Amino acid sequence: MKDIQIAASLLSADFGRLAEELKALELAGAEIIHLDVMDGHYVPNLSFGFPVIKRVRELTDLPLDVHLMVTNPAMCIEPLSEIGVQWISFHQECDYHAHRLVNFIRNKGIKAGLALNPAVPVHSLVAILAELDFVLLMSVNPGFSGQSFISSILKKCKVLKSHIENAKLDTLIEIDGGVNNENSAALIEAGADILVSASYIFSSADYGAAIRNLRSEGKK
Ligand code: DX5
Ligand code: ZN
Repeated sequence: MKDIQIAASLLSADFGRLAEELKALELAGAEIIHLDVMDGHYVPNLSFGFPVIKRVRELTDLPLDVHLMVTNPAMCIEPLSEIGVQWISFHQECDYHAHRLVNFIRNKGIKAGLALNPAVPVHSLVAILAELDFVLLMSVNPGFSGQSFISSILKKCKVLKSHIENAKLDTLIEIDGGVNNENSAALIEAGADILVSASYIFSSADYGAAIRNLRSEGKK
């Protein structure tokens, strides 16, 4: 199996011990820190915003991957660029001009991705695939960590991968939601490049072991 990157989502971290949590994730081998921004409108939950992300930026050198679950993603790009994040994804239906916003993000030197909810077909982003650095394929309905993996996403991942390969693109596939040791090998097999995980990592006594399990190293 190919190399897989693990993006640890801070949503299940102990926010009172952010510095220690980030250090533990670094030592455990996480490649990316995934930050779930929620506005209480696009999803029925609130999480954190710029001040927390700014502090995370100061506490780790790992690349920051911001997943915007907000109705107005455009207003977030300038502040996130100033903070110095490396990846930004937003949900296509949250901006009338997703193509323009994707290119606005990329022109700032930030990797741009579109997030696809479980009910949204892969087909909806084929027209813009060549301009995306990555697709965030949601394997739960966004808003909360700790939800169950929707297994039909495996097929969606394969369909997306074949579009990417047929068009000879290097767009990456990031899977988000309910990822654990039971589904990670199948996801890697289906073409995933990055696996997001919150509850599976943070509920483990040993983050390093959890991350190794996600990589399915024993199954190579
Ligand atoms: C859900 C978020 C996810 C979430 C994943 O809306 O986008 O990133 O933190 O949590 P787990 O891994 O627990 O499903
Ligand atoms: Zn997310």
